[in-house]
Amino acid sequence: MNKNYYITTPIYYPSAKPHMGHAYSSIIADFFARFKKIEGFNVFFLTGTDEHGLKIQRAAEKNNKNPLEFCDEISKTFKELSKTLNLSNNDFIRTTEKRHYKSVQNLWNILEEKGEIYLSKYSGWYSVSDEAFYSEDEIEEINGTKSAKLSGSSVEWVEEESYFFKLSKWQDKLLQLYEKNENFILPKSRKNEVVSFVKSGLKDLSVSRKSFSWGIQVPTNKDHVIYVWLDALTNYISALNYPDVGNDLYKKYWPADLHLIGKDILRFHAVYWPAFLLAANLPAPKRIYGHGWILSGDVKMSKSKGNILDPIEIINKFGLDPLRYYLLKEVSFGNDGNISEDKLISCINSDLANNFGNLCQRVLAFTDKNLDLEVPEPDNFNSEDLNLLDNFSKNYQNLVEFINQQNINSYMNFIVDQMFLSNKYFNDQEPWKKKDNRKRLNTIIYTSLELIRKISMLLYPVIPSSALKALDIFNIEEESLNLESIKNNKFLKPKLKINKINILFNKVNVDD
Ligand code: MSP
Repeated sequence: MNKNYYITTPIYYPSAKPHMGHAYSSIIADFFARFKKIEGFNVFFLTGTDEHGLKIQRAAEKNNKNPLEFCDEISKTFKELSKTLNLSNNDFIRTTEKRHYKSVQNLWNILEEKGEIYLSKYSGWYSVSDEAFYSEDEIEEINGTKSAKLSGSSVEWVEEESYFFKLSKWQDKLLQLYEKNENFILPKSRKNEVVSFVKSGLKDLSVSRKSFSWGIQVPTNKDHVIYVWLDALTNYISALNYPDVGNDLYKKYWPADLHLIGKDILRFHAVYWPAFLLAANLPAPKRIYGHGWILSGDVKMSKSKGNILDPIEIINKFGLDPLRYYLLKEVSFGNDGNISEDKLISCINSDLANNFGNLCQRVLAFTDKNLDLEVPEPDNFNSEDLNLLDNFSKNYQNLVEFINQQNINSYMNFIVDQMFLSNKYFNDQEPWKKKDNRKRLNTIIYTSLELIRKISMLLYPVIPSSALKALDIFNIEEESLNLESIKNNKFLKPKLKINKINILFNKVNVDD
């Protein structure tokens, strides 16, 4: 079985500092990466910044900076954000790096040698904000301004010499790819959009620009820079040392298992990217998942709309793990969602503090007082103990499947239920009333400790640093995490010394 897993976030435009929408993509990708890691996969998790094109050139001009100096500054804030979000990424790629130039120019040369690219003239609409070409029927005019129907961003007329990629030629091959790989595009609703777009007829795609210079030069014609999306998409293989397809990274990790992206950039990933790859005789990625947007009110949060929420502010106020928990649990994955402070506070107070945090503190305090902070020897488990403990072994395969299908909602529901049921178990079993039945008392505490361990393992991809704090109780370290151990009801060794830990989650006073 192939035990390698390659997951990517979109690479972000460093045209302005990161906002909650970017944090969302990154946190979700980190969740999958961490789960696959503890499931036993070698994971390669990539993120980075997309630094060329007219959008960046104009943003730099506006700030009176040269583009590279401008990108250096803002890319740094994205890199810092990945630390702040506690991402487990293995690499952070910038499209202004040498390794990426080499990779893009090589891909271009192959496409040109294979006759997939030809020189002609582009005349049509272009949105700098989306870095996308739009046809006449994708444009509408509102109050005298022409804009793209899909994104609402304004478009400008472009007429210049341009290289074209023979996208039209790949229409049938793309449709076959979608058909053969049922889950190539998820969720299903998004797949349907892409299929009908491709079926409606693909036109050749303009893949170079002549009227500005901030990009990677076309190797065979210094007057042109390569279209920023052909440049950007290639990052996914640049990071694996493409064009050296014989090197370990590329061999282990290409084709990627999952390109996680926002639904706004589905066409680029699900149509253009596989077409470029097929044309270059390289394998297409295995899956593209287009997630929903974080909204502000009922519109997409974005810099151009001026309605952004700074993730750092939320993290400073409530902490990182509560934000991660909220985004994973409260935003129905695949759909759009909102950040509501009330709901975030309720996640902290009821799920994290009252259920899970409280369970940890009460079981620890009880073990400290009555069992000298040692894991007791359990007697036979009764049906109430087993009902809960066995839930994990019985659902192990389901949980793995949820993740393989990007079904975050079901994964989170399972955890929320187990936190609630485990807390209830401890209350209902009333170990404090069993002091004259040591065998039963020991079994209840053993069961409770096992439940804390199992839940913490499942929480690790969601709230890594809090889960690791909880696993400190048992001296379990990050490097040794192994998800399969949740199937074992007697993982904890009797007599193991356990540690007291600080309160995991402070409740938020609603009157604050
Ligand atoms: N640079 C391109 C991607 C190139 S990938 C080869 C780009 N950059 S972006 O910075 O504009 O957006 C990157 C991603 O951030 C979006 O696809 C989406 O995943 C995420 N989001 C940006 N705004 C968002 C929301 N308001 N909500 C959720 N995610 C959104 O597109």
